[in-house]
Amino acid sequence: MVKPLIVVNFKTYDSASGERAIELAKAMRDADHSKATFVAVVSAFDLCETAKLGGVEVWSQHLDPVGQGGYTGWLEPNTAIERGARGTIINHAEHKVDLGHVEQLLSMLPDGFPVCACAADVEEAKALAILNPDFIAVEPPELIGGDISVTTADPQIVTDTVNAVKSVNPNVRILCGAGVKNGEDVAKAIELGSEGVLLASGVTKSGHPSVVLADLVSKL
Ligand code: G3P
Repeated sequence: MVKPLIVVNFKTYDSASGERAIELAKAMRDADHSKATFVAVVSAFDLCETAKLGGVEVWSQHLDPVGQGGYTGWLEPNTAIERGARGTIINHAEHKVDLGHVEQLLSMLPDGFPVCACAADVEEAKALAILNPDFIAVEPPELIGGDISVTTADPQIVTDTVNAVKSVNPNVRILCGAGVKNGEDVAKAIELGSEGVLLASGVTKSGHPSVVLADLVSKL
């Protein structure tokens, strides 16, 4: 069986930027990988340095479907890959794009470069599933950054997303996120049919990321 994914989004948290991004990526590298695969989703500014560490998979927080050349300020996929990105999230609630953006991006990326498309609800998840991303992460925006995990506040959105997405495209793997903080939340996410979690503040704002990372896998 494939190990669950624990995807930690560093966002632009000061506690997960620059030197602190490297420290956090090291904590993830040194976490217990026996029961889960850890992915660090870092700022483009920190991609190169965190990827150089090795031992933890590093993804981009966003990519744009553009080529190399006259595209000021865009996040160009080949450069991200060269700098060490091994996957990306796209359409995060804090960085929405249209379906055309996701479709074009998917058509440009090499095989084996996982894309996790974020969805706010079941309908958006279904629309994204047709485009065949590797993962869809369902995250109710109102629960993001809060203290109550989606798995407690709205377990049905997770099961409904799993069922809806699998009926459209059984190849897509489902993650869930928003408010995920501990091992119980991760275990519940798996019980609800998802294959991992996407989280941020539970790790980035904890002050003791190694302890939280250990707790996240403790009930698997
Ligand atoms: O990308 C993960 C995210 O949006 C959830 O954030 O802080 O609720 O874990 P958080």
